Amino acid sequence: MITDLRKPYGKHIARRLSDLKDYFTDRKAVKQILSKSDPVLYEVYEYEVPKKGEHLIFATTIIHPGKIGKERYFTKGHFHYNPDAAEVIVGIEGTGLVLLQDRNKRFESHQLKPRAIIYSRPGQAHRVVNNSRKKLVFLSICRADIGHDYSAAVRIPFPPRRDGFR
Ligand SMILES: [Fe+2]
Repeated sequence: MITDLRKPYGKHIARRLSDLKDYFTDRKAVKQILSKSDPVLYEVYEYEVPKKGEHLIFATTIIHPGKIGKERYFTKGHFHYNPDAAEVIVGIEGTGLVLLQDRNKRFESHQLKPRAIIYSRPGQAHRVVNNSRKKLVFLSICRADIGHDYSAAVRIPFPPRRDGFR
């Protein structure tokens, strides 16, 4: 049984539109929204563990419902490096998509729903999209010594139209 996985957490990160302004394709919509407000798109609650390979990072993420232009809110998405290790994503509440893409742009997407388990293999970047009208909550688990390469999602963009959420 899964209880409240957000507690006790050591770190709370709120990702706002300004943090993701280069990730959405509709730059006009980004500008227009940012001229009025800077909405929180998703929040991460992370346990704090030593950044060593024998430890595991596990974090609960909540993606709020919403759109920027025609794209639904999503996480930045990232590769791992040093080492480029796998990650497990477990759906807790709500529905969405897990997008996986390697550096050769081989792309796949998987439905995320409560109790669904998605495996992101070594070498795959992962992004989660909330394509619903309710919040999406999931748990992610990976080695604690990986580095996060977020800029790769800008350099090697995920295909924005492949899953019907545009
Ligand atoms: Fe990851």
